[in-house]
Amino acid sequence: MQSKIILALDLGSLDEAKYFIHKLYPKVKIFKVGLQLYTAAGPKIIQTIHQKGGEVFLDLKFFDIPNTVAQAIREAVRQRIKMLTLHILGGEAMLKAAVKAAKSESERRKVKKPLLLGVTILTSQKTHPNQVLKLAKIGINSGLDGVVCSAREARALRSKIKRKFLIVTPGIRPKGVKKNDQKRTATVKEAVQAGSSFLVVGRPILEANDPLKALQLLE
Ligand code: C5P
Repeated sequence: MQSKIILALDLGSLDEAKYFIHKLYPKVKIFKVGLQLYTAAGPKIIQTIHQKGGEVFLDLKFFDIPNTVAQAIREAVRQRIKMLTLHILGGEAMLKAAVKAAKSESERRKVKKPLLLGVTILTSQKTHPNQVLKLAKIGINSGLDGVVCSAREARALRSKIKRKFLIVTPGIRPKGVKKNDQKRTATVKEAVQAGSSFLVVGRPILEANDPLKALQLLE
């Protein structure tokens, strides 16, 4: 199951991120770079992960006019990003422009197209399952490769959307570990059984005295 785990590098500096990348690679192969770390460290963090042999999940949750998002996606292709997020609430025109930009830029550069993942509703917010399903359908029908959603929603999405798509699930907590601000948590096993393809874990590892042990405890 470890190959499915993505470490959320929710940290404030390149040095802190390096500590976790060196400690956890190759047990963890995909590292999520979000708003905090990207604002602090910039593209250097992407190079650092690639130099180590890891892959990058760029979680900047793009949400802007179609042209701006498309241009940002082209930059992500140039930086050989494995997967990235955008808000489905940004609308169909934005999503389609993103899909088109990812395809054309990766064909032009003869590199692998990044996986585009739509954010439905943040796991820190309460929501109605129908809203998540509606957004997920819009995302998949617009050509996204998958969606980000909680484990609870993953099962419903798998049963209601028949097409092949990826599910990335944050809010992963081993039993008995604090939930922080996450409202819809699940264990690794529960999320995989519900149909999640990748699991995003942050604080349970980042705040542990022994990050490697915390990773093992997730199983
Ligand atoms: O520390 P924790 O394991 O809660 O980290 C979860 C990560 O997943 C954070 O980086 C957060 O930004 C991200 N995320 C989320 N809910 C979403 C999408 C992303 O918690 N819907």
